[in-house]
Amino acid sequence: MTKSAWSLWIGLAISLGSGPTFAGDIAKGEKLFGNCLACHRLQGDDGTTIRKGGRAGPNLFGVVGRLAGSAPSYEYSEGLQALQKSGQVWSKESLTAFVVNPNDFLSVQLGPGHTSKMPFALPDGAADIAEYLANVATIGR
Ligand code: HEC
Repeated sequence: MTKSAWSLWIGLAISLGSGPTFAGDIAKGEKLFGNCLACHRLQGDDGTTIRKGGRAGPNLFGVVGRLAGSAPSYEYSEGLQALQKSGQVWSKESLTAFVVNPNDFLSVQLGPGHTSKMPFALPDGAADIAEYLANVATIGR
C-alpha cells in the first residue's frame, strides 16, 4: 500500500472510531456517580439501599422521569420548588444540563434570580451519569 493510501485508511479509521456519541455510557456513569455520593444516595421505594450516600441532597433513585423537586421528605430550595411548580420532569438531557451547572440551568428554565442549593457542578461526564441513573433500576444491585 502506498503511503498516501495508508494515511487515508488511518484517517478513516480514526473518524469512524471517534464519531459523536449521543447516549451516555452507563459503566462510566456508575463510576462517576461516586462524585455525587457525598450528598446523594440511591434508595429503592421499598427502602433497599442501592448505593449508600449522604443525605444533604435528595434520594436520586428513579430521578429520571420524576417531577423535579419531588423526592419525599426532602426540603428543596425555592429554586427547585419553582422548577417543580413549572412541571419540569427530569429527562436524561435536562438532568445533564442541571449537573453541568445547576444555577445556569435554573435561570434558563425559570429566569434570572433562581438558584439551587446544590453546591456542586460536574462539567464532564454528566451525560454518563444521567444514562446510569436512567438505567440503574434495571442493571441489578
Ligand atoms: C455537596 C453536595 C452535593 C453533591 C456533591 C451533589 N449534589 Fe445534587 N443536590 C444537592 C442538593 C443540596 C440538592 C437540592 C437542590 C435544591 O433544593 O436546590 C441537589 C439536587 C440534585 C438534583 C435534583 C433532584 C430532584 O429531586 O429534583 C439532581 C438531579 C442532582 N442533585 C444530581 C446530582 C448529581 C448527578 C451529582 C454528582 C455529579 C450531584 N447531584 C452532586 C447536593 C449535592
